[in-house]
Formats: sequence, C-alpha cells, structure tokens
Amino acid sequence: MLYTMVSLASGQSLCRRDAVISPGWMNFPTGFLWGISTAAHQVEGNNEKNQWSDWERNGRIKTGEKSGLACDWWNNAERDFDLAREMGLNALRMSVEWSRIEPEPNRWDLEAINRYRQMLQGLHRRGIEPMLCLHHFSHPRWFENDSGFLSPTAEEVFERFTRRVVREFGDLCTYWVTFNEPNVFAALGYVLGEFPPGAKGKITTALRILASIARCHERAYRAIHELQPNAQVGWAHNYVIFEPSRRGFPPDNWITRLVNHLFNESFLGIIDEGKSPFPLNFLNGKLRHVKGSCDFVGVNVYSRFHVAFSLRHAPQLFANVFVPADVPQGDRGAEKPYGESYPAAIRLAVERFSRLGKPIYILENGVPDAEDRIRPWLIVNVVKELDRLLAQGTDIRGYFHWTLTDNFEWSEGWGLRFGLVALDSFTQQRTMRPSGHLYSAIAKANGMSLDLAERFAPASVEDSSSDSAF
Ligand code: BGC
Repeated sequence: MLYTMVSLASGQSLCRRDAVISPGWMNFPTGFLWGISTAAHQVEGNNEKNQWSDWERNGRIKTGEKSGLACDWWNNAERDFDLAREMGLNALRMSVEWSRIEPEPNRWDLEAINRYRQMLQGLHRRGIEPMLCLHHFSHPRWFENDSGFLSPTAEEVFERFTRRVVREFGDLCTYWVTFNEPNVFAALGYVLGEFPPGAKGKITTALRILASIARCHERAYRAIHELQPNAQVGWAHNYVIFEPSRRGFPPDNWITRLVNHLFNESFLGIIDEGKSPFPLNFLNGKLRHVKGSCDFVGVNVYSRFHVAFSLRHAPQLFANVFVPADVPQGDRGAEKPYGESYPAAIRLAVERFSRLGKPIYILENGVPDAEDRIRPWLIVNVVKELDRLLAQGTDIRGYFHWTLTDNFEWSEGWGLRFGLVALDSFTQQRTMRPSGHLYSAIAKANGMSLDLAERFAPASVEDSSSDSAF
C-alpha cells in the first residue's frame, strides 16, 4: 500500500551532493519564495508573560509538558537560520512575541526589541527574506486578563503595538502577517476548549472574537501602510477541506456545508465581502470597512476531514468530524488523529482564495511525522499541485513549509513532530530528515525534476491528489 512504498522511498537519504538536480520538468518562477514558517512561542523558549505560559503552568497541555527552552531561539535562532541558508531557503516566516515587546501596557522592552532586530538582520545577512507575523496565538497576560479581543479597547491596543513594531522593524521587513489563523484561535479557544481560555461550545463568543480580530486586522493594515507605504500586508488563514461522508445523504451535505461556513468562511467572508456569513449585527458590529484590507492572502492548509450527520453529536451541531482509517495520515495527536494528509487540499484552498483577486502565499503546510513516513510524499505531491496551479496562471508567490525544526505543538506539547529537521529538545541536537534534504533540493533548484519526485514518491504509488473533494 501507499505508506509502505512511500516509506521505502523516503528511506533513501539524499546527500547534499545528490541534491543537485537537472533542470527542466517543473521550473518555478524566478523569485518564488521557498520558505518555512515558525511562531514565537513554539520556538523561542522561556516565554513567561503570555497566556500560553499560564496554560502550560496550569497543566493544560495534553501531555503535561511545557515548552521550556523550545528550540532555544531566544538565545540562538541563528543556528536554525544557518540551517535554512544551507538548505537554500530564501524566506522565513516568524512571529514577534507581543508579551516580550510590551510586557506591561505601553511599557516597551528595548532589549527584546533589539534581539528581534538582530534576528531580522541575521536573516538578511543570510539572503533570507523575513515575513513577520504580529499575532500567532499568543499575547500578553495583561491583554488576556483585560478580556483579550472581547475588550472594547482591543483595536486601539493592537494598533498601538502594531505601530511600535513597524517603527522598530520596518527598515528590516516588508512582508507582514497581522494574524495567524483567527478561525483556529476562535474555534480552539471558545468552541473546543483546547486553547486558552478553554471555553467550550461558545459559538457566538467565537463569532464575536472573529469580528473583533477582523477590525484589529484592518486597523493594523492601515497603520502599517501609513508608516511603510511599500509594505505587503496579509493574514494567514487556516483552510480545512470538509468532505461529506455520504454524498448521497442530504443531511451529511447540509452539515458539511455548515461546518465549512463556520470554520472556513466566517473570517474569510469578512475580508472578502465586508460582512460575516452569519449576519448577526448585534454580535459582529460594523465590518464593512474591513472589506479588501489585504495585499496578499496567506493560506495555511494541512488536512481533509470527513463529516457525517450524527444525532450523538448534538453538542457539536450534529456534526461528526472524523478521519477514515484508510487515508494517508501523519502521527496521531494525544487524543485524536491530526487529519488526513491531502495534497489536493492546496488546489481546493487556492481556488477559493483566488476569488479575492490577490497574490497568494502558502504560509503553512506539513504533517506531523516523526519517522518521515509520508512527509516526502506530501512535499512531492504538493509541489506538483503548485506547478499545475502556476501553469493555469494562478498568482502563487511562495510556499512555506511548516516547519524547519520540530517545535512545541501548542496543546499537543512535544508529541507532534512537524520538522524537516528532527530536534532533541533536551540536547538541542538537530538531525535533518530525508524530507529536509528533499525540500532543500527543490528550493535550490527552484523546481523539481521527475527524477527527484520519483526517488521520494514513486509514480507507481497511487496519487491521491487527483481525487476531487467537496
Ligand atoms: C498553526 C501552527 C501549528 C501548525 C501544526 C497551524 O495551524 O499555525 O502554529 O503548529 O498548525 O498544527
């Protein structure tokens, strides 16, 4: 079956000398960004002033672990920057930790600001284009205690932070991501209870949070452009493919559409049309001015889930969202599967985002896979999808893999390993996985040869990317 063959293929390790591939076959446009994405709390280590450190201290990580030193970036991000350069990457997305920069309201930590300046300079010195995210799930404890994005002052406070960051780093950064995955932040924090503050089933609160983040995003977008007219500003959207379990059974189709709307469309609709697909004005407030407030869209795309109508799932709006056993999957989370690894998800997501008429960056894509069983197969098939989309004229400017080095996976702790490079978090030792060598070869060649694809994911292996979904 698929997985055995893939693991045989990826078992061959590709040394740097082998990595030089003949040109031809899939050539990507000049200037295409081959990057990786990270997030401050997952890599920096010793973040103690944000709401996630409280969540960890209160034992809310499913494995009971703490992020600790994480990937030790606060002391030595440069070790991973060197790796990225050696791999031939030309872009890196990271985030700034708001609680380091503004540990108390309107008090700015100049040492922390300096450290971020060093990091950004370090990237430039290595020929790597930085992309900076302002909010990747974590924010200061004081902001959380003041009701976070439900506070009436959230927009003002977020704009103040944004302006400071752009004044400090604007000479070193052109690409800005305001928010990472508002839909995941709202769903996991207010509906599923897996992220702080751990609320469950609060769908209307989640919708209020999304509307508030959309307004914060819009204010940040305008503030960044005021301070840096040539800035490129977007946000990163998590797009999940939901597939009705029984296509001929109307309740499955209805419930799938509802789940898709709640998860994929609620925030996207605000930016796309200036209104929520759930027109509850008393909840959402004014949103019209948010319409079109981005220069690009960042797409984070990982998985497909199947959805079945189920009376037993009343608290989840009667939606049983699951992963069938016989599909490609990475490692399981502590309590449930992570999702089906589905390369065609890229195409379906890009088709939806193209409707916004803006350039697209794939800002996250990957799989938890400690043994590198299917990551090479995923990368090869995703690159094929990108190549097809580019050939059709889609304006895709870059692909950022999640992630470079295994890092602290939020509520899953150290359990899920997404890195192209394996990390021993105790010794901080790094070991490149075969998929790291593969990705490096693709980035260096700005494309992929048939030979390389064949070596890592033989064509004889069933290509699930030709399936249609949703
Ligand atoms: C998040 C990352 C996370 C990754 C893997 C994305 O939704 O932005 O922070 O580590 O998924 O789960």
